Amino acid sequence: MSDIKKIKDEFLEKLNEDLNIESVNEIKSELFGKNGKISTSFKNLGSLPAEERKKFASDLNFVKDELQEKINKKIREIEIKEINSKLENEKIDVTLPERNIVQGKIHPVSQVIDELSSIFSEIGFSVEEGPDVENEHYNFTALNTPDNHPARDMHDTFYLDDKKELLLRTHTSPVQVRTMLKGKPPFKIIAPGRTYRSDSDQTHAPMFHQVEGLHIDKNINMGHLKGCLDYFIKSFFEVDKIKMRFRPSHFPFTEPSAEVDIGYELKDSKIVIGEGDKWLEILGCGMVHPNVLKNVKINPDKYQGYAFGIGIDRLAMLKYGINDLRAFFETDYRWLNHFGFDPLDVPSNYRGLSR
Ligand code: DAH
Repeated sequence: MSDIKKIKDEFLEKLNEDLNIESVNEIKSELFGKNGKISTSFKNLGSLPAEERKKFASDLNFVKDELQEKINKKIREIEIKEINSKLENEKIDVTLPERNIVQGKIHPVSQVIDELSSIFSEIGFSVEEGPDVENEHYNFTALNTPDNHPARDMHDTFYLDDKKELLLRTHTSPVQVRTMLKGKPPFKIIAPGRTYRSDSDQTHAPMFHQVEGLHIDKNINMGHLKGCLDYFIKSFFEVDKIKMRFRPSHFPFTEPSAEVDIGYELKDSKIVIGEGDKWLEILGCGMVHPNVLKNVKINPDKYQGYAFGIGIDRLAMLKYGINDLRAFFETDYRWLNHFGFDPLDVPSNYRGLSR
């Protein structure tokens, strides 16, 4: 009995200390584990003389129950202590005013890029991308614009090195070249993106956006170009009828080349696209020049196609009634809040952009 009492006293004392769960579990296995003190005492019962065995067994059971109960109680105490301390420390102050959720807006340029990508994808165009930092070859030479061609001067190029080999692309047309070098005809792609020219006033910014279009296949002609642009302009401006005229023009990479004007009228000093008797220039286009096809190893006797380049910022200004291009890139929150677009899921407590 004295042994059992010793165990009991020793462990009751231990269990009275300030313990955490891990140390209680240690005590538990010291007592009741495979080689624990209580378990071993039970194993030794058999070796006791019969007259002592009964009393010892009953004392041992008693101590076992007492210790077990003490352990369970200790565990409950620790758990409650933990919960209380969490309640204390993680209190939520429900009187605090809610935070204003700042929800971004979609920039009109991004919105228009999404719109036109979806419109062109419906008639089989896929979207390609090219780098903003281009080389002179893709931006000019491969597009049939050799060294002394006057069109190079018209582009007010930002060159990035003295040798004038690297530059910020002046148009999205180099993506035509990159796409055709990458694969085999047919090609039916659009390439929206940033473009750069050293120019700045109310309708020109040094960085602006274009979308390039390219369709190369067997037997493609100007009728296809006209049909494609007619479909695009009607879908984009959401009108059933559109007056459109092709004005002869010149681009080194197309032959013949044209600029396209669309009809509009002014109603309450607002531009209404569609019929009207006024003309607005909207894009450049033409049949891809045989030299461009040769430069990318395509046989111009077998394949032909059309290309076009449209100013995206201009489209956004016309569709959404914005009259100063420079504001597009000033990152003025008030402007963006006014002209920007809501993403699909706007939280109910949205209050617009705030600084
Ligand atoms: N790259 C021309 C520009 O920036 C626009 C253009 C005109 C693109 C005719 C074309 C095209 O693909 O065929 O002014």
